[in-house]
Amino acid sequence: MSGKAWTVLGIETSCDETAASVVRGSAPGPGEILSNIVFSQTEAHAPYGGVVPEIASRAHLEILDTMIERALTDAGLSLAEVDGIAATAGPGLIGGVMVGLTTAKALALGAGKPLIAVNHLMGHAMTARMTHGVEFPFLLLLVSGGHCQLVGVGGPEDLHLYGSTIDDAVGEAFDKAAKILGLPYPGGPAVEQAAKTGNSRAYDLPRPMKGRDGADFSFSGLKTALRLLAQDGAKGGISVEDAAASFQAAVIESLIDRTRAGMALFRRDFPRGDVLVVAGGVAANQAIGAALAKLAGEEGFVTRIPPPKLCTDNAAMIAWAGVERLSAGRAGDALGLSPMARWPLAAPA
Ligand code: KG4
Ligand code: ZN
Repeated sequence: MSGKAWTVLGIETSCDETAASVVRGSAPGPGEILSNIVFSQTEAHAPYGGVVPEIASRAHLEILDTMIERALTDAGLSLAEVDGIAATAGPGLIGGVMVGLTTAKALALGAGKPLIAVNHLMGHAMTARMTHGVEFPFLLLLVSGGHCQLVGVGGPEDLHLYGSTIDDAVGEAFDKAAKILGLPYPGGPAVEQAAKTGNSRAYDLPRPMKGRDGADFSFSGLKTALRLLAQDGAKGGISVEDAAASFQAAVIESLIDRTRAGMALFRRDFPRGDVLVVAGGVAANQAIGAALAKLAGEEGFVTRIPPPKLCTDNAAMIAWAGVERLSAGRAGDALGLSPMARWPLAAPA
């Protein structure tokens, strides 16, 4: 770590996790997580098999102030002692983003601190700097419930989009697969668990986009193939474990092919770049992590994957994005800033 250490309070409310955290550090990291509190609303949404926006915003509103108090108490700090207040300003479910951003604005105004509006995806993208001090440039594979992208990151303002999904995000595909197979929500961990005891060669499922030009992803055809398999199986019976394993194997093969293509595009822009960062909730999947590590070895890359609880939604990554901003000497945002339901991380390269 070099330069002044900045202390930032982070707030995350863009989906179904209400989170607050205090992080201290300086770019390029690593940083110190002084507190990291995440309340997952999973139980509230479970009966619906997916996140219900209205329930999410109300739940954020009910507990966010307590979470912030706890994050400061755990860090042993008062609001007066932090250097800035960072909150997710998008992309995400607009009601939730409004709750977090408005709270951050009120705190920033009351305490006379800079407000730092953070792109949620930038939070995921920069996490490996907080955990591993990864220097620019790196290739980012962002795999979450809402996003599936390969981005070359030369710096916070130097982003190159090599590929993204043309339909479903990979986490979304896991969630839908779980629903099809009658596994609980959220789907990712449930499918991974079921796949552990299944035979990945039992069913022949498509490997979407494999071998295609560019580095885009697609998962909706795979989901449909799984649905058809399950419908046929309803007559004769299929093994849920085998289907989960076959589905996960297809996802992995597709992800590996697309990431290999992304690596070639990244090397064109950054010939000496050799770091692959994997971020987003799906990065918690160990089979995917192992396959990516193998690919990296073959292609002369090293992988950096933050620990699972920093891969899924959290506020430490938002606070860290604030640290990045202050380290770069950039000013805070205007209090009039609007929350954004859509906010792409990078324009196509
Ligand atoms: O990053 P995240 O917490 O939220 C956003 O979407 O921003 O990611 C959540 C997604 C869900 O779709 C969940 O099913 C998936 O990540 N996920 C996993 C695993 N753990 C979480 N997918 C596959 N394997 C896992 N172990
Ligand atoms: Zn996320």
